Amino acid sequence: MSATGWHHRVAHFNDGSSRICFNDDAIDREATNLIVFPDRSESTHTREECECRGCVYDESQYENVPWCYFPPGYGSYRQIYDPNNERFEVPIPLPPSPATAAEDKLYHVAFTPEPFSFQVIRTDTETVVFDTSVGALIFEDQFLQLSTKLPSHNVYGFGEHEHESFRHDLNWRRWGSFARDQPPSPGANLYGTHPFYLCLENDYNAHGVFLNNANAQDVSLQPTPALTYRHVGGIFDFYMFFGPTPADVVSQYTETIGRPYLPPYWSLGFHLSRYGYNGIDKVKEVVARMRQYNIPHDVQYGDIDYMERQKDFTIDEEAYGEVALRDFVNEIKEEGTNYIIILDPAIAANETTGTYRPYDDGVTKDVFIHDENDEILYGKVWPDYPDVEVDDSQDWDYQTEFYRSFAAFPDFQKPQTKEWWSQEVNDFHNKIPFDGIWIDMNEPANFVVGSVTGCTDNKYDFPPYHPQIWGATMADKTLCMNALQNLNESTQTVHYNMHNLYGWSQNKPTLDAAREATGKRSLVITRSTFAGSGQYSGHWLGDNASIWPHMHKSIIGMLEFNLFGIPFIGADICGFFDDTTEELCRRWSQLGNFYPFARNHNGLNYRDQDPAAFGEEFAVNMRDLFAIRYTLLPYLYTLHYKATAYGHTVVRPLMFEFTSDSETWGIDRQFLWGPGLMITPVLDEGGLSVNAYIPNTRWYDWYTGIEVDQANVGKWVTIGVPDYHIPLHIRGGNIIPIQQPANSTKFSRDNPFGLIVALSEGHSALGTLFWDDGTTADTIENGEYYKIEYVVAQGNLIASVVNSFGNILNGLNLETISVHGIANRPPWVKLNGMELNDSQWMFDDVTKILSISELAQPMMEQFMLSWH
Ligand code: NOJ
Repeated sequence: MSATGWHHRVAHFNDGSSRICFNDDAIDREATNLIVFPDRSESTHTREECECRGCVYDESQYENVPWCYFPPGYGSYRQIYDPNNERFEVPIPLPPSPATAAEDKLYHVAFTPEPFSFQVIRTDTETVVFDTSVGALIFEDQFLQLSTKLPSHNVYGFGEHEHESFRHDLNWRRWGSFARDQPPSPGANLYGTHPFYLCLENDYNAHGVFLNNANAQDVSLQPTPALTYRHVGGIFDFYMFFGPTPADVVSQYTETIGRPYLPPYWSLGFHLSRYGYNGIDKVKEVVARMRQYNIPHDVQYGDIDYMERQKDFTIDEEAYGEVALRDFVNEIKEEGTNYIIILDPAIAANETTGTYRPYDDGVTKDVFIHDENDEILYGKVWPDYPDVEVDDSQDWDYQTEFYRSFAAFPDFQKPQTKEWWSQEVNDFHNKIPFDGIWIDMNEPANFVVGSVTGCTDNKYDFPPYHPQIWGATMADKTLCMNALQNLNESTQTVHYNMHNLYGWSQNKPTLDAAREATGKRSLVITRSTFAGSGQYSGHWLGDNASIWPHMHKSIIGMLEFNLFGIPFIGADICGFFDDTTEELCRRWSQLGNFYPFARNHNGLNYRDQDPAAFGEEFAVNMRDLFAIRYTLLPYLYTLHYKATAYGHTVVRPLMFEFTSDSETWGIDRQFLWGPGLMITPVLDEGGLSVNAYIPNTRWYDWYTGIEVDQANVGKWVTIGVPDYHIPLHIRGGNIIPIQQPANSTKFSRDNPFGLIVALSEGHSALGTLFWDDGTTADTIENGEYYKIEYVVAQGNLIASVVNSFGNILNGLNLETISVHGIANRPPWVKLNGMELNDSQWMFDDVTKILSISELAQPMMEQFMLSWH
């Protein structure tokens, strides 16, 4: 794909003028329904205030619709430039814009001089994909506004929020983004910021728009259809992607911001966690019952209760004990379970000098964020004061005031901070041989507003425009906006500019440190993200609750993070806050079994919800459920490879694969793994059936292998779903590589492989297997992998090894192949020209499945299987 991106940069305008009042043209409602009072709630301004701004006032509107409008021809800024290059720019290295436009570009640009506007047009269809003539372009020191008309109502993306639907509701919705320690809640700005949307035009072409701006921001979605960006700083730095398919758009976007990281193979297994095991005995008890039922368990977590008084790089000697924890971790690793530790950025600052190296060294090396007076800024997070007796029954404010110690926040943009962090991580690894790091609270979260002494009255904490973000002041739950941070190695800026990048700035240093410590690819899971974080980390959707609606919301979040280039994504299975129920946890585990990042994580003091916590029947069913996931891991890993190598999505909406079927455009209660597997979970309490849309193609039931009746495709159908069942369908045209499951990938990786061949209408199918050692870093870049392409046409399955490396597939055989969708019993089946004997294959005349077994075909060799 060449010349599909468009990069346009509009920089600083500051001639001191301000455009408040205009006398303008007559009103044309249809064309100009944009709100003009961003600085407060739409309903509180008066007619006089509105008209003073040259706008049109009309109360005769419906719910949610503002009363004050821009008239057509409202003035716009046009000479925007930055002579001294003084404005804040996001310090993420992105590819430079090409000096000349490519000849085969898919777009052209038009300008209107007065009032200034520009249009970006898709050349072959003449669709105007971006059109700023719909509203005023404003560019002030702390206020940037730009509106565009949209070519359709199919808008997806923008994050991180709890959206009610994957396809946005454009009926006057405003979404703010400013990283916040905020459990998913309707309308709230959550942990990360992703100023990216994908729009599906009505003729099935798709485009994407990334505004590379990290300041606090909101976007207003309007039914015109249109949207308005409002940001409190930075520049307009737009990147547009012309697809033309939705999948192309994501691939072009991740090519720009950086392709996602390939997670280690073990991290595709099942993860188990909770906040508040409160001691190693409880962890051991839970792990023992996982083993008792032989439930797959690839990763166990340690949350902040492994620490002494919640201080990073320490171990609670009483509840855990360094030796006991180390022995335990070594033991579970032998059994195939990896260990991940949590680390928070805030470093305890009230210890006696000489007793807490992370802080002492941090001060000496000057790693912490400074306040406006250039002294270390102190807030409060989890660490407790030394020598306090904590009474958990006290309320939050009391505990914050009397128990939580001062804490300092590392500035990960300083080079010395990266070294300091790496040293602490490495030294801690010498004590506890963890395999990955979970970085939490990195918005950064702060339990006091701004700092322990509050914030002064300044233009950053109280900007003229407060985007639609939660909290009465910008510093709510975080640091003062005028705190001093590094922009890069040598320049300082204010937290106001860097806030949304804090999590991002911690991602790479943490992955680097984890790799150095473990000597392996390792894994980082981060709570706060920005565009590009996927290169270094996965993400979980934060502190959800054990409530049914949060299951559905998790699918939306997961689909969105796949658009954002962070495909290693999942939500806390069974819910974080509140007590779960057996039914909710069962249904959630069924859904979570298909999260790329499948982790059951629980909050402090809630009832146990690990897979073995609900008795034998439940536990045994969890084992069987997870066995499906483990069977499919070669396919899932290959999807992650394709995300890393080509920018594909791992979990994807039906809309990506069936773009011309408008019925799929709004579907977010079902999803796909890659192109080939459709998942339709039960999302409602008491639900024993699901309403599923089956796109118009061939599908095969995962469990029986039987083809879905053609009378039921291209339709919504009701599928009965017993308690321990989740509907799964394989799409015709796909070859899915599978492997016999085990209770850990450590063992499943040595098991025999199989292929599921699902034939298309034309009796063909395609598939890929990517295989490396699963733990070495940069195997794709270094070519240290096997890649095998499988193709079926006219009754022949051909396996071609397109990349090979070392002995990683030695001794591994392909043992089974099932071919679905053959019309009639074949007379024979041949492997490399030799007929298989009767015991090696059978054809079921009812199910039409050809089942081949005992193939003993080495995985690393090419072969041809024929049945025509
Ligand atoms: C907040 C995180 O979101 C949650 O997952 C974790 O358990 C707690 N912090 C305690 O570390």
